[in-house]
Amino acid sequence: MGGMCGIVGYVGPRPSESILLSGLARLEYRGYDSAGIAVIDADGTLGMRKRAGKLGVLRDDLARTPLPDGTTGIGHTRWATHGGPTDQNAHPHLADDGRLAVIHNGIIENFAALKAELLASGATFLSETDTEVAAVLLAHEYRANGGDLEAAFRSTVSRLDGAFTLLAMHQEHPGLVVGARRNSPLVIGLGDGENFLGSDVAAFVEHTRSALAIGQDQIVAITPEGVRVTDFDGNAVEVEPFQVTWDAAAAEKGGWSSFMAKEVSEEPEAVANTVRGRTHDGIVEIPELEGLDGLFTGIHRILVIACGTAAYAGQVGKYALEQWARVPVDVELAHEFRYRDPVLDPGTLVVSISQSGETMDTLMAVKYARERGAKTLSICNTQGATIPRESDAIVYTHAGPEVAVASTKAFVAQITALYLLALHIGRVRGAVTAEQQATAVAEIEAVPGKISWILEHQQERVTQLARWMADSRSVLFLGRHVGFPIALEGALKLKEISYIHAEGFAAGELKHGPIALIEPGQPVFVIVPSPVHSPVLHDKVVSNIQEIRARGARVIVIAEEGDAAVLPFADEVLRIPLAGPLFEPLLAVVPLHVFAMGLATARGLDIDQPRNLAKSVTVE
Ligand code: M6R
Repeated sequence: MGGMCGIVGYVGPRPSESILLSGLARLEYRGYDSAGIAVIDADGTLGMRKRAGKLGVLRDDLARTPLPDGTTGIGHTRWATHGGPTDQNAHPHLADDGRLAVIHNGIIENFAALKAELLASGATFLSETDTEVAAVLLAHEYRANGGDLEAAFRSTVSRLDGAFTLLAMHQEHPGLVVGARRNSPLVIGLGDGENFLGSDVAAFVEHTRSALAIGQDQIVAITPEGVRVTDFDGNAVEVEPFQVTWDAAAAEKGGWSSFMAKEVSEEPEAVANTVRGRTHDGIVEIPELEGLDGLFTGIHRILVIACGTAAYAGQVGKYALEQWARVPVDVELAHEFRYRDPVLDPGTLVVSISQSGETMDTLMAVKYARERGAKTLSICNTQGATIPRESDAIVYTHAGPEVAVASTKAFVAQITALYLLALHIGRVRGAVTAEQQATAVAEIEAVPGKISWILEHQQERVTQLARWMADSRSVLFLGRHVGFPIALEGALKLKEISYIHAEGFAAGELKHGPIALIEPGQPVFVIVPSPVHSPVLHDKVVSNIQEIRARGARVIVIAEEGDAAVLPFADEVLRIPLAGPLFEPLLAVVPLHVFAMGLATARGLDIDQPRNLAKSVTVE
């Protein structure tokens, strides 16, 4: 099975192998435990190669023994769900005596029943995957439909349950690639005399920025001359064109040692670009929300749903939404939400947050909320992705493509978007004064410069500290108020890329249990609230520091410039510029991202592609 995978397809005049491989390289963040390509060569013969391991393994193999040149092709990079990451289970899967190739992202839920049916009619299988079942079924339908690939593909996908993006080609039809999607991403790239398919636009952005987003339960057939989109019954459907707003260079490392390093360096821009065009004269007006005041006026509650880092952004956003929009806010992990019969009504606005816009847990939660009558708004970083398409309104974060598995610049952009949303809703509801808005806008506009200051003045120290701490067994993170989700984020980032045990706690919770973990030498990061804006909380956190210090903790504080009260109790002090009470998280998280990166690098790990993970989690 292919859980979260990268998919690319090409038809046109050029040799497809290098186009497929470079497309896969840009999609490797979606999965990287095996990869494969299939091409139809000039004689109309289908050639295929697939290998377990990262894309480099396939690339080396092809360099040693090349496939014949072909101008029609499909490629796949896989993150295994069921069926281990072996050569055999890698995609493409072939059928019809090697004349038909299929690649797949998602899970076909009824594959066991289909397989039993096909086995009974004499079919044989080489792999353990559900994808091969789809390939064999397609071969069967191909014969039943007299060699009409599109008709065969329609009847095949109509019989599949679950989530899938499926691409297929047959050597009897050079110059044709067919694709379908259900609950899984697929976009079309429109070239000149050539066309592309991809899991997202990164697959083809170096060739064209002109794209089409195809909808749920739709089929596409691409040829060099054109693109046909239909529903599963073969009826033509209208699709929405869009222009990709970033170029290929934005998705490349550009001299950085890793995508994560590049993306952390882009945190100032991610905030600035997310704010751009949405503020004027001290007020926030999000153009995409124009005419949608009705989404905000009749609500009595906001429910934020997301996973992982995006959920921590949601937890920070809660403070801003409650403060400025004056609406009660709950934040929930998307995968917990829909399994407990939640109370939803048209007075609930469900705000989903997702960098990729494809996280299956979040998508399912949005659909569930919508079906039960709630209003939905998506905060998303990826144009044409599924979650925004399933929502009543969209606020894009303009962080640019995020490739490293560890989310960094998207996180600061998500918090920024939530703050803008809070101010927008607050204004529409008359809950926030002009003065509050002007102060907040000035603060938010100052954030990019402050993040740049941290990167410029603190990055080296933090990286040095990370090197010293490379052998730590466990690191704890403490925060309070908006600093609490930042502590959680610091811990997640460290676990994710350095494989070191890490936990984040609310500082006030220490005495209720976690303080028992403190023993001499235990490193603890403490995010200290501003003594200027939050003096009461500041003093409480300083007391917490004393408590852990007395038990031997090695304390690293992240504190505002000029905060001298922390000095007597800190082993290390990392400074951040002064910022209003809600704006500190956007600054305090930066050294934590740098720290995780420095520590994983010191341990010699692949920081962009940590073990067991993939960038988009498109399975539940
Ligand atoms: O694409 P999304 O924002 O929906 O992804 C959500 C999480 O999977 C993601 O933030 C994950 O926790 C990151 N790898 C953390 O760095």
